[in-house]
Amino acid sequence: MSKPITVGSDAARHARPVPPPMAMLAELTHRCPLACPYCSNPIDLTHADGELSTGEWIGVFEQAAKLGVLHLHLSGGEPAARRDLAELTRAAASFGLYTNLITSGVGLTEARIGELADAGLDHVQLSLQGVSPEGADRISGYRGGYDRKMAVAGWVTAATIPLTVNAVCHRQNMDQIDAMIDLAIGLRARRIEIATVQFHGWAERNKAALLPTRVQVERATSTVAEARRKYEGVIEIDYVPADYHSNYPKACMGGWGRVGLNVTPSGRVLPCHAAETIPSLSFDNVRDGSLARIWYEGDAFNAYRGDTWMPELCRSCERKNVDFGGCRCQAMALAGDASAMDPVCVRSPLRGGLTEDTDRLLALSSAELVFRGR
Ligand code: FES
Repeated sequence: MSKPITVGSDAARHARPVPPPMAMLAELTHRCPLACPYCSNPIDLTHADGELSTGEWIGVFEQAAKLGVLHLHLSGGEPAARRDLAELTRAAASFGLYTNLITSGVGLTEARIGELADAGLDHVQLSLQGVSPEGADRISGYRGGYDRKMAVAGWVTAATIPLTVNAVCHRQNMDQIDAMIDLAIGLRARRIEIATVQFHGWAERNKAALLPTRVQVERATSTVAEARRKYEGVIEIDYVPADYHSNYPKACMGGWGRVGLNVTPSGRVLPCHAAETIPSLSFDNVRDGSLARIWYEGDAFNAYRGDTWMPELCRSCERKNVDFGGCRCQAMALAGDASAMDPVCVRSPLRGGLTEDTDRLLALSSAELVFRGR
């Protein structure tokens, strides 16, 4: 594994040495048959002819393994839209990477799951939009999607691949959390990740329709706490609460440039999924430079490493090693400045305005969903 090194930018000179990344999210494609209104992919998607080729992706995986990455998340879009998914998985496994497929299930068949198991796939995360065919298919904009997911879950567990259910929660399904946990147990998932929707990319357009209410969030928190007690040893329950109703920001990405990196379908290397919403940053491409150089020396990665970029209140805050300054993309979206305090923080001068805006959006109860175009 690579040794930590100190990088050369001003920000990094004041920071601790940079450890190698532990995780890489490979967005194999932006193609996706679903039309989820909470899609966090960018508004402008990469077309199939702009995607990295099979050989290019394999080269990136090899570099990632040499750099020190342990976990490789194969994501999209819908990664099953890539016909070379099994070949990519096999190559990643051969480099010693732990491979995790993040999928809607659409596009997978029993035969393909068998191929993926043979290729060495270590884990599957299957998304769930609701607990009934009507509700789930309405949110995903894909008729028959729910039934396909149920079948895929059965094929995955029959192939003895560990399964996690990813339940994305929002105002329209937040009251089904207990039923989602029951469903995940019925599907023999080892873990369920209940994640409240984040308003990046396309999802930003649906904030008024998807933002959960305070009452829903409080109820969800107690439902999760109770279920953790009840199902201890049966299923692991991870919960990502709603940002806008929290007092402190989350440690987004485990801190900028600290733990992981994302590679887009066309090879741009990002510190986080939504980093392209920060207009002052420019991003290197794996077609033009090595992953190691980009991780250690890339301007985008060094922009918010350490604490020299932080406003004084954050730099002197006892929580700075807990949340690492929160989410830079949220600061960009809500404060118009990626180096501002995350407005979710109770100490931010913008927190009062965020609460008022949240209440105003929650009052728009008739907001229509805008589904993602394909
Ligand atoms: Fe980019 Fe949080 S999504 S830092």
